[in-house]
Amino acid sequence: MSTHKEVKKVTTHSLIEMKKNGIKISMLTAYDYSMARILDAAGIDVLLVGDSASNVMAGHETTLPITLDNMIYHASSVIRGVQRSLVVVDLPFGSYQANSSEALRSAIRIMKETGAHAVKMEGGSEVSESIIRILTAGIPVMGHLGLTPQSIYKFGTYTVRATEDEEAEKLKKDALLLEELGCFALVLEKIPAKLATAVAKSVQIPVIGIGAGGGVDGQVLVTHDMMGINFEFKPRFLRRYLNLHEEMGNAVKAYIKDVKSGDFPSDKESY
Ligand code: KIV
Repeated sequence: MSTHKEVKKVTTHSLIEMKKNGIKISMLTAYDYSMARILDAAGIDVLLVGDSASNVMAGHETTLPITLDNMIYHASSVIRGVQRSLVVVDLPFGSYQANSSEALRSAIRIMKETGAHAVKMEGGSEVSESIIRILTAGIPVMGHLGLTPQSIYKFGTYTVRATEDEEAEKLKKDALLLEELGCFALVLEKIPAKLATAVAKSVQIPVIGIGAGGGVDGQVLVTHDMMGINFEFKPRFLRRYLNLHEEMGNAVKAYIKDVKSGDFPSDKESY
C-alpha cells in the first residue's frame, strides 16, 4: 500500500465551485520556491506570481520594468514549491499590449517554460482580442480591473479608481465582458467596496479583491506587504500579520553580535 497522500489540487473549476458554495478564496503573491512552499503548505488557494515582483523583489518604483524572462524565472521557481495551489502568472507590461499574436506567444512561453496553470492580464475591452486568442489556445485567463498598475503613468496616482460614474460604468461592463469572453476569475483592485460587491453579484466567475472590500469572493494581498517585509507601504486595505522587517533586522543584529564576539559558532556548532 502506498503511503503517498493524494493532494487535491485547486483548479480554475474548483474556484468557480467555491464561489457557488459561498467559500471565500484566499490568494497571495509568491515569487520564489521557498515562499511558495510555505504558502502552499499553509493551504493558500491561489498563488499569484505577480508583476509586483518588479517592486518587492527587484526594487523598481513601478511594475513596468519587469520582463517576460524575469516572470518566467519567478514562476518556474514558484511552481517547484507547489503541490496544491493554483499558480497564476502576470503577463508583464509590454508582453501583450502590442497585438494579440504577441500576447498569445507570451502566454504560451509562460505555460510552456514554467508549468504554471493560468495567466493574468490587466484591462477590459482594450485587451479583449488578446484574451480571446489566449483562451482559444486553451490557456486560462484571470482578468484584472480597477487600479491596474501597468497603466500608472496614464492614471498619474495610485488612488482609488472608479469613484466617478463613467469609470464605474465602464468597469461594470468590462467585468461582464471578461466573463463572457471566458475568463475564469477577476481581480478588482482599489475600487469602492459597494461597486466591487455589485460586480461580484453580477458575474458567476469569482471576483478576488485587493482594496475592494469584503463583498467579493476572495482576497489577495502582496505577501511581502502582509508579512511586514515591505514596511513603508501602508495603504488602508493592508492588514499586517507580521512585522518581519523588524524581526529579521533584530535577528541579523543578533547574528552580527554573535559573530563579532566569537560566540558563534560554539563547539556544538562545529565539527
Ligand atoms: O502583481 C500583483 O501583485 C498583483 C496583485 C496586486 C493583484 O497584480
